[in-house]
Amino acid sequence: MTQSTPRSRKAAKPAARAAKARPAAAETPRTIAVSGSQSGLGLAIRQRLQAHGVSVIGIDLPGKGAEVEADLSTPEGRAKAVEGVTERCAGVLQGAVANAGIDSSDAALTFQVNYHGVVDVLEGLRPALAAAGRASAVVTASHAALISPGVRESAAAALLAGHDRRAALYAGASAGGPYAVSKLAVARWIRSHAATSDWAGQGISLNGVCPGAIRTPLLEKDLADKVKGPIIRAMPKPLGEIAETGDLAGIFEFLLSPDSRYIVGQLIVCDGGVESMWREQDWPRPWDISLPRFLFKLFGPR
Ligand SMILES: NC(=O)c1ccc[n+]([C@@H]2O[C@H](COP(=O)([O-])OP(=O)(O)OC[C@H]3O[C@@H](n4cnc5c(N)ncnc54)[C@H](O)[C@@H]3O)[C@@H](O)[C@H]2O)c1
Repeated sequence: MTQSTPRSRKAAKPAARAAKARPAAAETPRTIAVSGSQSGLGLAIRQRLQAHGVSVIGIDLPGKGAEVEADLSTPEGRAKAVEGVTERCAGVLQGAVANAGIDSSDAALTFQVNYHGVVDVLEGLRPALAAAGRASAVVTASHAALISPGVRESAAAALLAGHDRRAALYAGASAGGPYAVSKLAVARWIRSHAATSDWAGQGISLNGVCPGAIRTPLLEKDLADKVKGPIIRAMPKPLGEIAETGDLAGIFEFLLSPDSRYIVGQLIVCDGGVESMWREQDWPRPWDISLPRFLFKLFGPR
């Protein structure tokens, strides 16, 4: 244990007094938008944030009781979500969680909600996040992108390029189906955008969370499926059980807090150890780059 010296004890008193006397600038209420806020993980994130004084603007399907009702599976719905949130936060937003998602065999619908519903909403809210001076954006991805066999890079690349039909064609061949492809595509989008001048350069820390199975209505539906159910049940559980939403909400809260500001472009896998158990040697991976290429990256044009 670190012993405090008489000198540091002395210094602590005025500092503590100053902290007490400090005006409540740090306690200015934060406003955070959460999509898929009315069920499962999104609801748990909403409740956790609200319990700690955050003003939450929920986005969910019409009739679900969210502050902003919008169907994220259509471009019009996504525009409505962005407009509704921007209006409610008066153009200044401290955080956004792109969490709404579905697991459907309908590839076109899955891509609309899980990929475009993330990218369009976050891009649309970026000016409001930038206006806050310092903000966070968190995407609910999934460990399905990392542990489903045969998820094709070409399918995710097609989605990122806006070729949804081609992505659906390539997704058909993989075990994870369109769901895993959509989650790989959002993960790639996070990695390629987070450190750019549009995001980190505007003071916005953009990251993703990759949960494993969590007990929510979405999982209950998958558990009832004849094919998916047995696979999910057979998954290893290094921690002994399937996660509850409360096991995940605090991770989002941390990623939305100023304390995590230096985490940028990361995918936080929180699946109780499944990915690290199965892919223990795959990460961290040393950087296989030649010295000239590295020097070009370091000193060349950006
Ligand atoms: N439950 C799991 O095991 C698990 C595992 C990994 C990742 N995830 C991800 O977590 C996120 C939340 O899922 P969940 O398990 O809480 O599911 P859920 O079904 O309980 O909640 C999803 C929410 O998204 C909303 N939503 C769905 N389609 C929408 C649309 N078109 N427009 C607006 N809102 C829409 C739903 O109304 C619902 O409120 C999803 O992105 C999912 O892929 C879940």
